[in-house]
Amino acid sequence: MLDLLVKNARLPGRKDLADIACADGKILDIAPAIEGQSEKTVDAMGYLVTAPFVESHFHMDATLSMGNPRLNRSGTLLEGIQIWAELKPDLTAEDIKRRALKLCSWAVTKGNLAIRTHVDTTDPTLMAVDVLLEVREEMKDFIDIQLVAFPQDGVLRCKDGVALLKTALDKGVDVVGGIPHFERTMDEGRKSVEILCEIAADRGLMVDMHCDESDDPLSRHIEALTYHTQRLGLQGRVTGSHLTSMHSMDNYYVSKLLSLMAEAGMNCVCNPLVNMNLQGRHDTYPKRRGLMRVPELMGMGINVSLGHDDVMDPWYPMGTHDMLEVAHMGAHALHMTGVDQQKSLFDAVTVNGAKTLGLDGYGLAPGNNADMVVLQAADRMEALRLHPARLFVIRRGRVISVTPEVKASVDLGNGPFPVDFR
Ligand code: FE2
Repeated sequence: MLDLLVKNARLPGRKDLADIACADGKILDIAPAIEGQSEKTVDAMGYLVTAPFVESHFHMDATLSMGNPRLNRSGTLLEGIQIWAELKPDLTAEDIKRRALKLCSWAVTKGNLAIRTHVDTTDPTLMAVDVLLEVREEMKDFIDIQLVAFPQDGVLRCKDGVALLKTALDKGVDVVGGIPHFERTMDEGRKSVEILCEIAADRGLMVDMHCDESDDPLSRHIEALTYHTQRLGLQGRVTGSHLTSMHSMDNYYVSKLLSLMAEAGMNCVCNPLVNMNLQGRHDTYPKRRGLMRVPELMGMGINVSLGHDDVMDPWYPMGTHDMLEVAHMGAHALHMTGVDQQKSLFDAVTVNGAKTLGLDGYGLAPGNNADMVVLQAADRMEALRLHPARLFVIRRGRVISVTPEVKASVDLGNGPFPVDFR
């Protein structure tokens, strides 16, 4: 007896429709016309079925706090950090949890079943850490949540920053974070990278730093992050997030840097929505885009995934936590509208993210977790164009979210007819 049978699924890269049989939370078989008894059957109606979306970079402690205590008038990163500092003393555990759980419901509805979220560890009470550890536990049947100990005010710049970060890790936070470009000097930034990588190596943890989120071409902490990854044998376990200064760096320097990053097995997370908004703010015209060099990184075989980063918080006033919106912005801002590039962007919000997070059992193949999303689209390019409804979101063989098929009808004088933008 199967737990779930998904019929008439269109799978990426496969010509004919297939059925997906699920039992005990795993994918048992993928083949045309599977027969057999199943507790539940879902008809994918020839629509695209993919592995779930992966959110590689998020801030769940700040999400949905927009306007509290005030709106970001300038729209800049620094005013955002200032507003967050003003909000922090008034945060309550109940408020953080309510907002985080609400965001989780949005994420599941959009088919995002894995989220790496940074959590601020520079608050001496570590309240957000405790709350998000609870949320991680409560949501574990629905979403894989991975927490990054993120010293928002700088691990060296903030009083007791290192001790607080270590306490957060002791409590069960998964990944070591950092923000070297926000330390007081370049040297302190470099030192913070060294200290944080050593903490991760000692504890056998992964690293994911906010790194060089700046338009300053001389912000080169990615170099130190790459160096210490190599030195400490952390290859494949370290992620550089944002890396926006790479946009403005000297081309000759980048050509050397990319090889070093490839050698170190660095993962990179680009956040197109938020960094298109925050970067280039000190420019007159032309205004820089300020995104890492994704096509070039991918061309070197470096794993790049995408993050939403923020949804309605001090840094970004928009969003519904739709990873296809993130990829759509990436297609434009990174000049990645070529056919293969669009597929690469779809990978960046699915399989590449799974690699960044180190997820086990991810992907549509027998033996893997029975996690998948049915999208109201024919293929990945159409999904990227339409940001379509997630008709069914399935986790461990169980349907956990349903959105009805969207059907529009228009009448231009000769009676109504359907329009589906396909
Ligand atoms: Fe971030």
